[in-house]
Amino acid sequence: MKFFLDTADIAEIKTGIAWGVVDGVTTNPSLYAKVGGSYEELLKEICGLTKGPVSAEVIADDADGMVAEGRAFAKIASNIVVKVPMTTAGLEAISRFKAEGIKTNCTLIFTANQGLMAAKAGASLISPFVGRLDDISEDGMTVIRELAEIFQHYDDLDHCEILAASIRHPRHVTESALCGAHVATMPLKVLEQMTKHPLTDKGIAQFKADWSKAKGGK
Ligand code: E4P
Repeated sequence: MKFFLDTADIAEIKTGIAWGVVDGVTTNPSLYAKVGGSYEELLKEICGLTKGPVSAEVIADDADGMVAEGRAFAKIASNIVVKVPMTTAGLEAISRFKAEGIKTNCTLIFTANQGLMAAKAGASLISPFVGRLDDISEDGMTVIRELAEIFQHYDDLDHCEILAASIRHPRHVTESALCGAHVATMPLKVLEQMTKHPLTDKGIAQFKADWSKAKGGK
């Protein structure tokens, strides 16, 4: 399973990459707004930090506008993936990007049918938003589970990977992995939380104490 960092913060990306578990990065306009500056320069820097896919999101509502924005992003680096919202215009843009050999990540997926449509249009990644569904008392993981099951039935969807997005906590990652998501994108905080257990901390403290006792003879 692949892990992406869901952030536009360079320091966070460097930290996660140093841990050796980061396979790519997803950004969106809200994450970019937290850091500011030039989006293009930021994307160039992120693409220099990881060889993995780096999602850059378009803002236009119409297919022509999305394609124009996405083509410009794709020129920044070969690992750019153009992030396109799930709309009919988005589907058209995805199919045009596919014809041009530009990879896409269809974002704002909240149903299995939306994911299926995006995969059929040619998206290389589809992003069901688990946390935002949980936020409105729906079960976000159901969408991941349904899509993973659908993908098992059809070889013609093999070009596309299920990317569990809007991850809020480590349990979302475990459940996404169990359901068969190919990728989970998460904030650095969640990636770090995944390393934690109180018994690990207790065990380290105990080993240190015993080591000191043995060495000090007490
Ligand atoms: C990533 O591709 C998504 O844009 C992101 O995971 C959304 O997360 P949020 O629901 O926490 O904003």
